[in-house]
Amino acid sequence: MGKDLLYKDLAKYYDVIYYWKDYSKEAGLLVKLISKYKKSEGKELLEAGCGTGHHLQFLKDNFKCTGTDINQEMLNVAKKKNKDVTFRKADMIDMKLNKKFDVIISMFSSIGYVKTITNLKKTLQNFSGHLKSGGVLIIEPWFSQDQFTNSKTQLISYEDDKIKIARMSKSKRKGNISILDMDYLVSESGEDTKHFKDRHELGLFETEKTLELMESAGLKSRMLKNGFMKGRGVFIGVKE
Ligand SMILES: C[S@@+](CC[C@H](N)C(=O)[O-])C[C@H]1O[C@@H](n2cnc3c(N)ncnc32)[C@H](O)[C@@H]1O
Repeated sequence: MGKDLLYKDLAKYYDVIYYWKDYSKEAGLLVKLISKYKKSEGKELLEAGCGTGHHLQFLKDNFKCTGTDINQEMLNVAKKKNKDVTFRKADMIDMKLNKKFDVIISMFSSIGYVKTITNLKKTLQNFSGHLKSGGVLIIEPWFSQDQFTNSKTQLISYEDDKIKIARMSKSKRKGNISILDMDYLVSESGEDTKHFKDRHELGLFETEKTLELMESAGLKSRMLKNGFMKGRGVFIGVKE
């Protein structure tokens, strides 16, 4: 069983696995939220846990973008798509970029990978430390404890002339950690079908606790019910 293989050996397939996500539309909503909540004057934007840089592709016309991720394989894909964006390998829990931003975003559950409340606190304080006064933090969360469905099986597939991918994902829960066990079948034309087993572990954080930690990190904070994916909401924090 691999761990976070999706962001390592399978990183080159990430964009086709998530072909159904409308990154352009999500970037449009980000631009609206930023213009509503940002009070600082500049246009420096950081995406922490940027993955393959798909949001940045649509944000780079409006902002001066930097992307960070803990997995080099994801950054390699991101760099190919965004030659004009700065990328750095960094862990969002303790990264030190020696720079302050007007906007920090963390999208599509990346925050869940910090796993524990202690790490969540460190991450939020670190985000706040990288924000200019009046800068805005936007976090699209993973599920909270109430929202997470235990023992759920999900099947997704993608196919075109060159590649076919099937993924079966099963969820379980250990305390406040959600565990996703995934089986991938990948068939590229001219090659044998490959089977990968992958596990992901994400923390289940309560909305109220996240808001409390954001406030104590010096961010005026709220959760908007309607975010990017149904039922997940979005956290907004403005640096005081
Ligand atoms: C579900 S993907 C989301 C990627 C991208 N934001 C998107 O919307 O497609 C989660 C990403 O978080 C990254 N990640 C996980 N833990 C991290 C950490 N502690 N610091 C930085 N990135 C991390 C993974 O490598 C992966 O690229």
